[in-house]
Amino acid sequence: SFKTYVYLPSVANSVLLLSGFLDTLRVLTAVGEPTLSEFNARYDFMYSRNDTYYILVICDGSGTIVGTGAVIVERKFIHNMGLVGHIEDIAVAKNQQGKKLGLRIIQALDYVAENVGCYKCILDCSEANEGFYVKCGFKRAGLEMAHYY
Ligand code: ACO
Repeated sequence: SFKTYVYLPSVANSVLLLSGFLDTLRVLTAVGEPTLSEFNARYDFMYSRNDTYYILVICDGSGTIVGTGAVIVERKFIHNMGLVGHIEDIAVAKNQQGKKLGLRIIQALDYVAENVGCYKCILDCSEANEGFYVKCGFKRAGLEMAHYY
């Protein structure tokens, strides 16, 4: 009884904020406590670029968001003006993990990336999550570097 939606196009933004979206992301990392107007401003930015930001959510039977993920489409000059999908911010609510929702999220985002014309899809993850992404069909490639400000 789970439903999958790709947001951007248009569900009222506050629905995302109020129905478990940010709480689901809290299993991934620090989220903060944005106000509704801060949230809406970021949502509107993404919605105005809805050929670039694809945010997916999975809802349980009561409409509460229990899983989410995103693919961001990067436009390049190299590889014949190639497109690269960046998978980001994958999270499944603690009490719903282990039910293949994460797998469904990755499969759906991968499908979006391929069908908008990306030649590859990439992501960063911890060693602890490598096995999950291998089960989703990804393989280790390269090394992440970061510079925090
Ligand atoms: N290591 C190895 N295998 C794993 C792991 C893991 N950490 N997690 C799941 N698997 C396996 C499952 O056992 C299953 O295998 P099976 O098909 O043999 O039964 C398969 O991967 C699919 O698992 P799902 O049930 O779809 O996984 P789940 O819905 O629990 O989602 C996720 C996995 C997204 C990692 C979830 O545990 C989660 O939200 N964790 C906290 C947040 C997080 O770490 N997100 C990923 C950050 S990386 C990024 O965002 C790009």
